[in-house]
Amino acid sequence: MRVMPTLARNNHLLSTADLSADELKNILQLMKLLKDAHKQGVQLPLLKDKVLGMIFEISSTRTRISFETAMTELGGHAEFLAMGNLQIGDGHETMRDTAEVISRMTDGVIMRCNDHAYLEEFARFSYVPVFNGMTMDGHPTQALADVFTMMEHLPGTSLNEMTMLYLGDNNDNADKLVPIQRELMWMAAKLGMTYIACGPRDMWPSAADTAQFERFAAENASGARLICSDDPYEHIADVDFTVSDSFVFGMPEDDPQTIARHTKLFPAYQVNQALVDAGKPELGVLHCLPCQRDEEITSDVLDGPNSLAFEEAENRLHAQKAILVWFMRTDPKEEALKAYHLGKVEALLHSVERDVPSAIYHEDHSER
Ligand code: CP
Repeated sequence: MRVMPTLARNNHLLSTADLSADELKNILQLMKLLKDAHKQGVQLPLLKDKVLGMIFEISSTRTRISFETAMTELGGHAEFLAMGNLQIGDGHETMRDTAEVISRMTDGVIMRCNDHAYLEEFARFSYVPVFNGMTMDGHPTQALADVFTMMEHLPGTSLNEMTMLYLGDNNDNADKLVPIQRELMWMAAKLGMTYIACGPRDMWPSAADTAQFERFAAENASGARLICSDDPYEHIADVDFTVSDSFVFGMPEDDPQTIARHTKLFPAYQVNQALVDAGKPELGVLHCLPCQRDEEITSDVLDGPNSLAFEEAENRLHAQKAILVWFMRTDPKEEALKAYHLGKVEALLHSVERDVPSAIYHEDHSER
């Protein structure tokens, strides 16, 4: 009888909104343990023999490399699958059938695509955990690395005491250019952080996103606060972190919409040295990268002492390890079970005649 996939939403990582505060905290704690081991040169083969399928419709540097490296360092294997090279890329196969087939041959799948509905469809028909490698709706693996970077920067400070100022577009409108912003909002709400959305008023969080933030904060009694401002200087003296992203990510150059959006945000919401100088000395400046230098962030800040952008990029590796282990690690099989199956296979191979060119491998080289 045909069995359909039955994974729950929290068996996947499609959005941090789907995870409980405890799950998020546990993954962050796992990240610390795995990074501590990594720093001492220790790699733990927690995903030995596991395979991660990696479906990418759009380009990536950090997400792709961090997932591939994480799988190798955890003792598994990552298989890169450019969507254009799959049957689905040519439109010969549905997402549903693709999901069923790929998830029968792998232990987890990461997918990066523009349309979040594609990812949802894949997860619905997948037998294994699916990770959102970024859609225009969300970038949960980035947000987990970001909050971890904040915790590292302020050791001993509780999440409740931390405030982040996100500069730019905070509105989940038709542009859908808020994948990281939204995930940070959900994490802040669940973990009790203060989130300041800073941008033009029509780029403040939508009513629906504001309601979701308030709901997550209330459900978790987290004490999280959402504040909106159109002036980067209004709160800069009190915040612990600034976060920004490209003003026009993925938009066609010279398009009137791109120009209009850019004009609204630049230079008013740029992270520059004047803004950093108005903040606390230990202000941490985050940017998920890639960035447009001297657009949303100036080079002197990006390369300066307050920048955490490259630690943040490095932490993608540790975040992916924790995510992969959290969702994909299963109890190791007992040695007796392995020996049982190996014995059955060896018995068959020895009981039949096979034309194996063993001479090639056992050639006597002694006279050379
Ligand atoms: N920040 C981020 O997701 O980078 P990539 O697009 O290079 O993966």
